[in-house]
Amino acid sequence: MASGTGSLLESLLERGRQDAPFEVTAIVVDRACRAAEIARDNEIPLVDCRLADHHDRATWDAALTEQVDAFGPAWVVTAGFMKILGPSFLSRFGGRIVNSHPALLPAFPGAHGVTDALAHGVKITGTTVHLVDDGVDTGPILAQQAVAVHPDDTEDSLHERIKSAERVLLADVVTALVTRGVVIDGRKADIP
Ligand code: GRF
Repeated sequence: MASGTGSLLESLLERGRQDAPFEVTAIVVDRACRAAEIARDNEIPLVDCRLADHHDRATWDAALTEQVDAFGPAWVVTAGFMKILGPSFLSRFGGRIVNSHPALLPAFPGAHGVTDALAHGVKITGTTVHLVDDGVDTGPILAQQAVAVHPDDTEDSLHERIKSAERVLLADVVTALVTRGVVIDGRKADIP
């Protein structure tokens, strides 16, 4: 699921082709974002995440859940998907939704993790890949990678450096999940 510039989506598509550990079966996007072009260019079925947002949120949540469920995904990856998933979606795919966040959680959760880290003056930030629960960026952490903050960093320069780390880490974690299942702290976690 992507609603940004799609760089994380592209890294997943590339990894999926290289060793074929997984296949991206459908892409949920906001049609207006660049990720939608990537879906069309790669001829992968596209689900428009605004499909029912002219209704109330519960209707949107139920409609999105049904549309995604129709593809029968083993895993759902939110790769720059800037909408909060609803209770129907979380109950259908809970435990099988993987998110990438551009900060070292639990530090700097939410939609401005990069800006907040810069504003706080941290010298090290990074990226976190975690399972999604019903909180915001609060699910079990699967992997993290540190990224140094440079004195002259802007939000864009720091975010691009974090994304370079994310592109590899997210693809590595998705490959591990598909091939080995969820391993947290060295223990295989039971996914409902
Ligand atoms: C990533 O940094 C991700 O952690 C955050 O949004 C960014 C998505 O980048 N949630 P892109 O749209 O894939 O380029």
